[in-house]
Amino acid sequence: MFQHGDTLVPTPITIKEKLRIARPGPDATREAVRRLSQGEVIGLPTETVYGLAADATDDRAVARIFDVKQRPTFNPLIVHVSDVEAAREIVDFSETALELAAAFWPGPLTLVLPRKTDSSVSLLASAGLDHLAVRAPDHDVVRDVLLAFGRPLAAPSANPSGRVSPTTAAHVADLPIDFVIDGGPCRVGIESTIVRVEADRVIILRSGAITADALEKVCDIEVCYEKPSSELPTAPGQLESHYAPGLPVRLNATTVAANDALLAFGPPLEGAGITLNLSPAGDLSEAAANLFAMLRRLDDPRYNTIAVMPVPETGLGTAINDRLGRAAAPRKQTR
Ligand code: TXA
Ligand code: MG
Repeated sequence: MFQHGDTLVPTPITIKEKLRIARPGPDATREAVRRLSQGEVIGLPTETVYGLAADATDDRAVARIFDVKQRPTFNPLIVHVSDVEAAREIVDFSETALELAAAFWPGPLTLVLPRKTDSSVSLLASAGLDHLAVRAPDHDVVRDVLLAFGRPLAAPSANPSGRVSPTTAAHVADLPIDFVIDGGPCRVGIESTIVRVEADRVIILRSGAITADALEKVCDIEVCYEKPSSELPTAPGQLESHYAPGLPVRLNATTVAANDALLAFGPPLEGAGITLNLSPAGDLSEAAANLFAMLRRLDDPRYNTIAVMPVPETGLGTAINDRLGRAAAPRKQTR
């Protein structure tokens, strides 16, 4: 059974009888490695969100991830490695890619790079694409497991497809898995920035914890955003409603009523039935770290709507607004 100080009532969470939430340490690392070696899918903390991890070189284990997540299978997975050396065994690095890895790894930047022809990673992990998304996460728990396991780990965020991402071990209880290591609340709280590195430019496929400005400081070449395309499901933008709570979401709220659950930013509006504040001081990093946990807590059937106050479109605000936009998008594709 799980015990966690951060249990988020009244969000409905299915508590699995079998789920074991382990304290970090050598025993937990050993158990994680044992389970991964048997092709099991387990929950692991990263600095961004909790991941649903499996041996990236084992097709069946990777397939199990899609099964557990009920994720549309065309959506490729991020492959986690301990460092650049490990990444170079599975993808080809350009000069720019090396510079980006040197600047941001371990950390919340995912690089989409050409698969090596002899890459050991399951084709299913890249959903048949000839590019693979890789990152070295900056969290001791997952790093210890990666080093002890010695193989890359495919790990999407540990939420059922289309639901908000998990930032505590208790959130992972939404999924039918048996084991998660509790690394505490995620420091960053919002997923990694995903970039495709091309010869003459770096394309942001998903905005995230590393901002476009931070990328520009490191790259000699152009940094740009991908134009939306309906043809290739290479970025999560194609799944409009990806971060969806159960309640409808109203963005840029300027007034609220008693049946609204308010997600505030800065000085809060008065009159909502319940108010959680992403950052009373208007700090975007604090807001990112609180975003998913607060969306979950506000997703309470006693209210009609989650009303969200405007968040500035600067720095991390771009990623926060991207996630909020998805939470508010029509639900038809993934629900
Ligand atoms: O912070 C994170 O990135 C977290 C933690 C667990 O590392 N992971 C995460 O994974 O957010 P996931 O699977 O929820 O989102 C990964 C996104 C997918 O939606 C997919 O569109 C994109 O990465 N992606 C993966 N492989 C890709 C590829 N080869 N080309 C383009 N996009 C890719
Ligand atoms: Mg996700």
